[in-house]
Formats: sequence, structure tokens, C-alpha cells
Amino acid sequence: MAYFLGIDVSTTGVKALLIDDRGSVVGEANTENPLYTPQPLWSEQDPLDWWNGAVTSIRAVLQQTGVSGELVNGIGLTGQMHGLTLLDERGDVLRPAILWNDQRTGAQCDTIRARLGREHLIQLTGNDALTGFTAPKILWVQENEPEVYREVRHILLPKDYVRYRLTGAFAIDRADGAGTILFDLRTRDWSPEMLGALQIPLEWLPKTFEGPEITGTVNDEAARLTGLRAGTPVVAGGGDQAAQAVGVGAVKPGIIALTLGTSGVVFATTGQAFIEPQGRLHAFCHSAPGRWHLMGVMLSAAGSLRWFRDTFAPGKGYDDLLAPAATVPAGCEGLLFLPYLTGERTPHPDPLARGAFAGLTVRHSMPHLTRAVLEGVAFGLRDSFELIKQAGLSSIDQVRVSGGGARSALWRQILADVFNAELVTVNTTEGAAFGAALLAGVGVGAWSDVDSACAATVRETGSTRPAGEGVEKYDQVYALYRDLYPALKDLNHRLSGV
Ligand code: XUL
Repeated sequence: MAYFLGIDVSTTGVKALLIDDRGSVVGEANTENPLYTPQPLWSEQDPLDWWNGAVTSIRAVLQQTGVSGELVNGIGLTGQMHGLTLLDERGDVLRPAILWNDQRTGAQCDTIRARLGREHLIQLTGNDALTGFTAPKILWVQENEPEVYREVRHILLPKDYVRYRLTGAFAIDRADGAGTILFDLRTRDWSPEMLGALQIPLEWLPKTFEGPEITGTVNDEAARLTGLRAGTPVVAGGGDQAAQAVGVGAVKPGIIALTLGTSGVVFATTGQAFIEPQGRLHAFCHSAPGRWHLMGVMLSAAGSLRWFRDTFAPGKGYDDLLAPAATVPAGCEGLLFLPYLTGERTPHPDPLARGAFAGLTVRHSMPHLTRAVLEGVAFGLRDSFELIKQAGLSSIDQVRVSGGGARSALWRQILADVFNAELVTVNTTEGAAFGAALLAGVGVGAWSDVDSACAATVRETGSTRPAGEGVEKYDQVYALYRDLYPALKDLNHRLSGV
């Protein structure tokens, strides 16, 4: 029996997931990552925590499963996208990493648009400059910490720092590469024009690889620390969204992946570089070689429900919280929730967007408020779904739903009704780490390509169909929901200054 290891360097923790060569999960271990917010809008982590977390989780999963490191035939990496990790010439970390959800770079996004021209930027990279992406973070350090910037010799993303410690190689996959917006989306590689405009030397950037390609092998030091075999191949893997899509088999045009994690994502694979002309959707490379994807990202999806539970019903289980909400009629008798608790990306790229309940009356009780949160998140995700439909993809055959929030039958039904589409669940629920492990298996020849790996391991387990009445009601309420952000935008911008 051979095994593959997927390592997910997420914002909450580093997960090590071991699968066998039939795609069955053998075990997993997770080590939490501290998160630092030294100033409002800032979000940082210490790259050494990622490496220590990876070592701890790898050791733990090998120990718990009793699988010898000798039998792990390949490793795939995935992780939070966009995070800026800066190293000096000795490979030492220069400052805390600036993460995907850090919102400090509004001015640098304007600079990038001004230097490239917004339309040209979107045509070249597939994307507008957004605070979440990597390039504006580099400019921020250039402008605000020149003494740090002078020392920079290597720019990496979070999972690629772990790769560097594991193998000594400076390498990145093309999904994460595109998420820096320093990529030419069509050539799937660094754009000399972007690097020139932002004065970033090409030598600082890692070499780029397709998801299943081998980028290096486990070195002696990492083998000693983790229990893995020195020489084990490490494949490129992918940014967490692309790897998640591999993990649920969303690798062909026509299958939409809907992920209901802390953030919410609507993800559509495309056979060529497909750009939404106004840059409202992200357009990145897929972890499946030679494919791309469009994606809408909501920053607080299941994160909104967690906030709601922690604030208004601390300690309550989600099942107990959600059960009474099932008895509230669709539309919550005129109560709307706007889920922009941490600003937003799609369809309103606005770090100062804020959340709101609108339409409250004395008739509204806790179950109404709970259901309004589920519905508000579903409406926000429908915004991305509509943009994907309007982008002119040839067809949408299926929506595959995953992530913690998708465990709720009520939330799945609300989403099916709000989208007016059938939602399918699959057997593979381990997310991005599972996708990364599959990419490792492909890289060492256990499956011939990503399509075959998905076909061999991912099975449909259930379906939720839209239920007549809800669909019509939600169409009406969605029209009202769409008016809520513009109605509150200016007020919320002013409130953020208080
Ligand atoms: C994707 C994105 C987030 C992070 C979270 O563009 O920013 O999904 O990757 O882990």
C-alpha cells in the first residue's frame, strides 16, 4: 500500500492529511496557527508557526495512523492564498507575513491601477488590484518599510515557505502564482510587464509549476524533524481554492464548486483564460494543468454564522441554533441580513463594507435572526453565481457544495432555492488537503492525470433540489437584498471613521 500526504497551511491551522492509493482518508492531524492583528485592518502570521505546525502535524498523523514515513510516496501542498512572505539572502524570514484578509493596501491598489491602467491590468492578469492580493502588499512594504525591503531576496506564499523548509526549493504552483496578480494569466507565468511596472526583480520570485509537477524532494533536516523519508517527492499543489476544487472533483467546465467555509466561494473551471471584463470575479489558473477558473469570494460566509452564534448564543451547538430557524418562512417576514462583517470582495470590492440587519420589528425573534443570516449569505453567494452565469460560460451542469456550512440541510435547501439550482454533495469532505494529496498521487504516477484521480475517488452522495415556493419568494427578496449594500455604502464608510 502506498500513501500520499496533503498539507494545508490554512489561516486557522496546518493540517496534515494522509490518504492511501485508493483515495481513502487514513488519518489527519491539525495544529492551530496564532493570528496577529497589530493594527485595525491588519492581519499577520509568523511563517515559523506554519513550519512548526507542519512538523507537528506530520509527526502526529504518522504516529496516530502507524504509517511509516517510508511508505509516503508523495506530498502535495496547499494553503491560504495571497499571503506575502519575505525572506533575506540567507532564507530567513524578514517580517510577519501579510495575509489574504489584511486590508491595509487600498492606496497601493490605486497605485497599481494607475501604473497599468485598470482595464489593461484586468486584461493582462485577469484581475483588478484588490487589497487581498499579493502585489499591493509588496508595494506596501516597498513604501512603508524600506529597511525591510532592501533586504528582500525571496518572495513566497504561505504554503511555499513550508515547501522551502521541507525541500530547500523556491517554487510555486500556478493557481497561487495567478493570485499574486504578478502573472500573465494566459502564459501561466510571471509577467515581465507587471514586474517592470512594480519594480520587482524576477530573481526574487519562485519558479512556477503546474499542480501535479514535482518541485523538489524532502531534505535530510526535514526528514529528521518529521519522520518522512528524505527524497520523498513534493509536488506543486495549489492555492486552497483550486486544491479544494480538485478535492471535490470540480475540474471540468460545467461543474461549479460552492464552498461554505469561513469565506464563501463560487468557483467555475474554464478551458481557457476567461476574464470578466470588469474584474468583479477573480480569474486564476486551476491546479489541473492547462485549465483556469473564475471565482467569486465572499469574505464572511460560515464566518457570519460563527460570529452570530458566538455573539448571541455563545456555547450553543449549531444544530440547536438552526433547528428553530427551519420554521421561519422564507424571507424571514421582511428581515434582511447583509453579511459584510469583514468588508467584501465579490461583487463589491470594498474593505469598508459592513454588515447589517435591515427591517427589524418586534415580531422578529432569535429564529428569524438566525435564518436571516443563512439567507443573507446565500444572497451574497448568488451575486457571484449570477456573475459567473453572465460571464458567458457554455453551460452549468452541476453545483457541488462543500465546507462546514454545507453540513446543514436547512442551509443547503436555502441555497438551492436562492440559486434555483440542484446542489450535489460528495463523499470527499476533507477539502483542500485532500485535493493536494490527489495532486501528489498524480505527480508520482498513481493516477494518470487530475481527471482520473477525481474520477477514481470522488462520488456523489446526495442532492438538494430547489423547492417551488421558496424559489419565487427568494427571487423577490433577492431583488431587495441587492439594494441594501448601495443604500448603506456611504453611511458605512463614514461609520468606519468613527
Ligand atoms: C482566495 C482567498 C481565500 C484564502 C483563504 O482568493 O483569498 O480563500 O485563500 O484561505
